[in-house]
Amino acid sequence: MDVTRAASVVAERARNGRLLVLTGAGISAECGIPTFRGKEGYWTRGSKVYHPMELATHRAFVEQPATVWGWYLYRRSVCRAASPGAGHRAVADMARLLGERFDLVTQNVDGLHARSGVPPERMYEIHGNIDAYRCARACTTRTYPVPERFDDWPKDRIPDAEDLAALACPACGGPGRPHVLWFDECYDEPRFRAESAMDAAARCDVLVVVGTSGATNLPMQIGALAVARKVPILDVNPEDGPFGDLARRSPGGGVLRAKAGEVLPGLSSAIAGAVGARRE
Ligand code: APR
Repeated sequence: MDVTRAASVVAERARNGRLLVLTGAGISAECGIPTFRGKEGYWTRGSKVYHPMELATHRAFVEQPATVWGWYLYRRSVCRAASPGAGHRAVADMARLLGERFDLVTQNVDGLHARSGVPPERMYEIHGNIDAYRCARACTTRTYPVPERFDDWPKDRIPDAEDLAALACPACGGPGRPHVLWFDECYDEPRFRAESAMDAAARCDVLVVVGTSGATNLPMQIGALAVARKVPILDVNPEDGPFGDLARRSPGGGVLRAKAGEVLPGLSSAIAGAVGARRE
């Protein structure tokens, strides 16, 4: 599908209806944040090369909390150093244009959507946020900002006992942990807004999927629900994957084999035109 056709599908549906955008690591790849499953997602420590799927687990945290914290603190520094790209800005424009008729479900923990201006009440960070931590013993679902002393964390530094004490749960004094969803954990509403994300899928009139390989459960459920509801899906991704299949099966939907920053501004301009025309 070309951008012009995709823009007219989105504009037509968003004129009076609801838009749901679902993003993954691809939208932030253009801002210098490595994708999870791309080769730069790997992490080398001494002679050991970790696959992210080994470290991003509760099990790894229990076995080696300092190593896992070091990896997250470094990744947090990479995210902080990055700036929102054209794709994020276009998504924020869509949020502004559509107000309560817009929802964003993001798998990204980098915070770039919030920094580009998507309001928190319109956004579901279903895999958490790397800038926050919470009680590892779950004494509360509250999250806390990672303290400033951890800004600019070097790649190979492992937090010491004093660092870990600064990341303890302020409520109970137990160990703190990154506020993310690990591979051996389940989605829920209080921490990850999973039900809210499915509700958004149940009421959207068009779904735009950007930069995700479709390897996680809740995003695929969102796509399957959109297909079952006969809602058009547009899949923005330079590579094909499961969302491409769903998009082709959805009536009026299709795939855009392009980078997020190349096509999302065109989609937001089309929405601006449609919303403006409605107001006149
Ligand atoms: N624009 C759009 N898509 C892109 C771009 C780009 N510029 N660059 C890469 N992509 C696509 C890749 O083709 C791939 O399909 O982004 C996708 C990134 O896939 P993953 O690295 O698997 O990231 P994601 O789908 O977000 O992973 C889902 O799994 O690892 C866990 O919790 C982690 O949130 C993550 C989740």
